[in-house]
Amino acid sequence: MGNLGILLVALVSLVALNQGLVHAHFYFDTVFTLGSQNSTIWDNGDNLALLLDKVSCSAIQTNKEFLFGSIEMQIKLVPGNSAGTVIAYYMPSTGSKHDEIDFEFLRNLSGQPYIIHTNIFTQGVGNREQQFYPWFNPTSDFHNYTIYWNPSQIVWFADGLPIRDFRNYERFGIPLASKQSMRGYSSLWNADDWATRGGLIKIDWKNAPFIARYHQLSLRTCTWTGPPDSISQRAQTTPAANWWASPLYGKLNDVQKVQLNWVRENFMIYDYCKDTKRFNGQFQPECKR
Ligand SMILES: *[C@@H]1O[C@H](CO)[C@@H](O)[C@H](O)[C@H]1NC(C)=O
Ligand SMILES: *[C@@H]1O[C@H](CO)[C@@H](O)[C@H](O)[C@H]1NC(C)=O
Ligand SMILES: *[C@@H]1O[C@H](CO)[C@@H](O)[C@H](O)[C@H]1NC(C)=O
Repeated sequence: MGNLGILLVALVSLVALNQGLVHAHFYFDTVFTLGSQNSTIWDNGDNLALLLDKVSCSAIQTNKEFLFGSIEMQIKLVPGNSAGTVIAYYMPSTGSKHDEIDFEFLRNLSGQPYIIHTNIFTQGVGNREQQFYPWFNPTSDFHNYTIYWNPSQIVWFADGLPIRDFRNYERFGIPLASKQSMRGYSSLWNADDWATRGGLIKIDWKNAPFIARYHQLSLRTCTWTGPPDSISQRAQTTPAANWWASPLYGKLNDVQKVQLNWVRENFMIYDYCKDTKRFNGQFQPECKR
């Protein structure tokens, strides 16, 4: 009986931890935090449109907080001339020493490609930007933007190809983003004070409303419901139950490494690790690896 009891408890906690919601719904799993008056969700929550006009920007967040897992969205970026607007797709924790994993889509001038911007904050410290051009037209169709997050690495994927791999750099004294739960957010907003050519280009409101479309939100995450101080404890005490902590997700495989290099060699436009001017020759410690 005792053994059975232990087995049952083990099974139940395994199921509880593994119940990453896979196919999520914008209706049930997210809420509008801004702009609900003119953004919409349709098709049983499979589709979402965020809208920006002179009156309002718009944003959603996931209802649930999570620690580790993957978040996936198919996004069709704003077509036409939308310089000055930004679509952010990010996962922040709360508090002053917050962790945050960012995808942002910056519009350059019309006729110029969109810029895929990535960044990461651990314990409140960011300044780790990398930027890429997409190798596809991100406004003509939906494309898959996915973030993997586990204690060994954080990987940004575009259409299944890893574009960035931020590994566990604790040996360099860099704190891991592994102790604070996050929510997923996305927003479409006016950032014409910085987004396009450093703020030179302002939004042309003649083209409003600007619309970003989203499809197939997928959350394979470990939902967090408890107090923040026991989060890391739970992740550490039940590592076997966490699929994202398995060696398969601990590092890129050989094919993915080739893909990452292909993206970096052909589409990377900015790397904080190569910006000697900005950091006075002093790079973040992980850049020396
Ligand atoms: C967005 O909402 C505001 C406030 O309700 C409204 O004035 C505006 O016309 C709406 N825009 C669109 C494009 O529906
Ligand atoms: C943005 O567009 C301007 C003007 O065409 C161009 O000079 C600049 O290189 C572009 N920036 C990026 C990052 O593509
Ligand atoms: C989106 O990309 C992720 C990461 O590569 C992958 O796991 C997922 O299956 C892709 N989703 C679709 C619908 O292709």
